[in-house]
Amino acid sequence: MSVARILAIDDDPLVRATLRDLLALEGHDVSVTADGEQALELVARESFDLILCDLSLPGIAGAQLLEQLRERAPITPIVALTGYASVEGAVAAMKAGANDYATKPVRPADLSRRVDEAVRRSRRHLVRHQRELKMLFLKSIRSLVMSLEAKDPYTKNHSLKVAEVTDQIAVAMGYSGEARQRIRLAAILHDVGKIGISETVLHKGGPLTREEFGHIMEHPLIGERILQPIMDGYADVVAAVKHEHERFDGRGYPCGLRGEEIPFASRVIMVADCFDAITSNRPYRDAQAAERAFEVVTRGAGSQFDPAIAEVFDSMRGTWMATVATEPGPAAASLEIC
Ligand SMILES: [Fe+2]
Repeated sequence: MSVARILAIDDDPLVRATLRDLLALEGHDVSVTADGEQALELVARESFDLILCDLSLPGIAGAQLLEQLRERAPITPIVALTGYASVEGAVAAMKAGANDYATKPVRPADLSRRVDEAVRRSRRHLVRHQRELKMLFLKSIRSLVMSLEAKDPYTKNHSLKVAEVTDQIAVAMGYSGEARQRIRLAAILHDVGKIGISETVLHKGGPLTREEFGHIMEHPLIGERILQPIMDGYADVVAAVKHEHERFDGRGYPCGLRGEEIPFASRVIMVADCFDAITSNRPYRDAQAAERAFEVVTRGAGSQFDPAIAEVFDSMRGTWMATVATEPGPAAASLEIC
């Protein structure tokens, strides 16, 4: 069994020493205290895998201490320890927040089994909690993308279509598993910063003025600001969104990065974005044939686009013809996060 962080609360020095020695012998990291108030402070400050709590401490009633521990550590298993076994005592302890109840002196084998069970339960709970957080995160990303596309009928499904093309290029270039999923996620989110761009500018039918174009150019940085606080652990995805308008020759924005300084995902998105922009209707022009997109990408290889990616894109003409004729596929619609 893996090492656990355990807090043992008991006012009897002999019990404290015994618990500490037995648990330390099994490799656990044990903190002990005789005092209920100090235990509450410790739990507020640190996280434990398990709390062993004596119910007859001086100064604070057992049930009250359990309730306050539960409040501060909602998912940590608590085993209540008592010198007097009674059904009423066990029921009261469970009602106050304990998960288990043991009578002192606890035999070493019994202690070891209870610790094992409690820690396993705690880890299972943690995994479930992390899964729920991930789902919540996923939903907030979905609603960000949906609100962007609801704002602009001309970009309906744009993010998903760019994600489809990006994903297929990434696979053709050898990406798989988590790396592939992160690239696809960046593609889905690439234009999220347009939420911060004025609708008048976004939906303008004619050419943009210099000021309007300057305003649109802010969207990668706005995207970075939106995503950074909610994407802990996804710095590569945030960076790909920030740099999706960098050109291979260094004349892009917002940072003027060049060549392989630009994240790979951003370089692929640049190609996929161009393909979808050309083959979709826009307020100022109708959709053009896929052939036109191949021409633009081939001509821009080495200047706007990474030549290696442009070559792979061009070699997959058959795939893109099918993409233009269909709605976004299941790969693009998937928002899996690894
Ligand atoms: Fe963009």
